[in-house]
Amino acid sequence: MTRLGDSHKVEFKMKVQHRYHCLGFFLILIPVIVCAQTPPAQEPREFKHLAESARAEWPATPVRAAKGMVVSDEKLASEAGIEILQEGGNAVDAAVAVAFALAVVEPEAGNIGGGGFMLVRLADGNAKFVDYREVAPAGATRDMYLDKNGALDPESSVIGYRAVGVPGTIAGLALALKMYGTKRLPDVMVPAIQLAEKGFPISDRLAELLSESGPTLGRFATSRRIFLKKGSQYEAGEILRQPELAATLRRISRNGPAEFYRGQTAHDLAKEIQREGGLITLDDLAHYQAKIREPVTATYKFNGHDWQVITSPPPSSGGVAIIEALNILAPVELKSWEDPRSVHWVIEAMRRVFADRAEYLADPDFAPIPVRGLVSRCYADALRGTIDPALASTSHKIRAGNPAAYEKLDPAAGGCPQVAGGPSAPANDRAIDFALAETLHGGHTTHFSVVDAAGNAVANTYTLNDDFGSGVTTSDGFLLNNEMDDFTTRIGSPNMFGLIQSAANAVGPNKRPLSSMTPTILLRDGKLSFVTGSPGGPRIISATLLTVLNWMRLEMNAQAAINSPRFHQQWMPEGVVLEPNFSETMGKELEGRGFPIEQKRRWIGQVEAIGIDPKTGERLGAPDQRRKGAAASY
Ligand code: DON
Repeated sequence: MTRLGDSHKVEFKMKVQHRYHCLGFFLILIPVIVCAQTPPAQEPREFKHLAESARAEWPATPVRAAKGMVVSDEKLASEAGIEILQEGGNAVDAAVAVAFALAVVEPEAGNIGGGGFMLVRLADGNAKFVDYREVAPAGATRDMYLDKNGALDPESSVIGYRAVGVPGTIAGLALALKMYGTKRLPDVMVPAIQLAEKGFPISDRLAELLSESGPTLGRFATSRRIFLKKGSQYEAGEILRQPELAATLRRISRNGPAEFYRGQTAHDLAKEIQREGGLITLDDLAHYQAKIREPVTATYKFNGHDWQVITSPPPSSGGVAIIEALNILAPVELKSWEDPRSVHWVIEAMRRVFADRAEYLADPDFAPIPVRGLVSRCYADALRGTIDPALASTSHKIRAGNPAAYEKLDPAAGGCPQVAGGPSAPANDRAIDFALAETLHGGHTTHFSVVDAAGNAVANTYTLNDDFGSGVTTSDGFLLNNEMDDFTTRIGSPNMFGLIQSAANAVGPNKRPLSSMTPTILLRDGKLSFVTGSPGGPRIISATLLTVLNWMRLEMNAQAAINSPRFHQQWMPEGVVLEPNFSETMGKELEGRGFPIEQKRRWIGQVEAIGIDPKTGERLGAPDQRRKGAAASY
């Protein structure tokens, strides 16, 4: 939890202050809201010494292997996946093994107490999206995080039992395995159970995160005992054993997902949450359902090849955003990220897709989402027409567009007809400004990619939301998410990532909070080509989009596509974040074009990707060195 370390307590306080600064304006319903500018945050810590110290050593080329490849944040988890592949499992079997292993060795993000998305593309061409996003408990209400004056309680959607959504991970992994795997749960859970039982050496990064998250973890007795050694501090290299988690994993392995949703684990969880003032009941757990959805897809022709992008549908906002951005950028010449004009175009595309995200994206089972309009080529043409390639636009003047008008248009029927009223809709007429520090929030999610010998592929992103989620570890040894903060907890107030979201994403019983997680798979000339995705809250969308552009349009090698400098703009706030590995002159060039550039550079995302060499068919593992990712292969 970024806000939990000393420096980040400051950031958290700023978030709290920010919300109250905004409140006064909201109360008097001024249509254009300008919140007090918060002073800049202390230096964000996200991966700072890991990435900066090692930058010179970042590998320039990917890991090559003939058969199977797993790339994740943690070597031990990647190896768990390879173990399953070598035992004859397919990519889905391996992915489930990796997910369970990460729940042990990457406790800040890997999880069984959270949720996520798994995009599966089988070698036979079948592609499906397993949605195991958390849901709000049945007792949740739109205003549950507001006090009687309508002010947002800045803590309760973030820390502790009321922040927890009904976890989906166990249901999702079990469903994926049943539908697309070949092995049984007990087979693929062996590595995770062993890692929990025998323990594993704490990495530099985990030691650092545990220390920074100490103040929040320390508020919950089980978290304090397991992750803070009852109040002292784990050093890198010490062994972390998690016997309660091992016992829980054993029960799940034996009894299946029913253990988590109806069995002893469910009873323990519901009892603890109820006792501590949370909302989740046994009934909520019993009713949780992972869902299989159709991915969002789009096709392109670039560099003489036919490309298909297969990506995440709502309740992810990411796939729609990425396709909308790719459509805007399709006819635009992109040279490199040393070319200010190319960066300019992408920033302007990001600004527009994030404005649409803020207005239209939510749980599709609760609100109609104009997905067809948002990903329509004609709509993209209209949005592109609002971009000046020489001068930055300003978010205060950019509104969500009018995708509904493009829902029924068929570009194949010959050109894009004029749509009355143009691309801009008046619906989102707020303008909200706040310090970019809001968006510099860390938090953890984790993405991994798997390709097996047969060419089956999995892109999986799952999360507790913040580092160590809500800070609560249950008596059964697993951390609980704080995904409720991904809802629009108060209309017009930014969430922990600085995202403004719509009323359609308000808290509601059994509803999924909007996500940015975007597991994505690319085909080239009909064949598997690239598997990608990232953590990073809203920066997931930018990081994933950039890796897709790097691979599909700029033809970088798989590792260069990951190493390449990233940038981020999310409509509100105005600022553009550049990574530290961006060229020195780029900031100045962009400022000259009118972009406000955030002074403090920051690492963006952690993309664990796999490319396929089109000539040899080799799997190209491209771990991200920003968080020291690791490929394992055979
Ligand atoms: O689903 C989402 O969009 C967020 N809960 C993801 C949070 C995240 O990626 C945090 N960080 N790295």
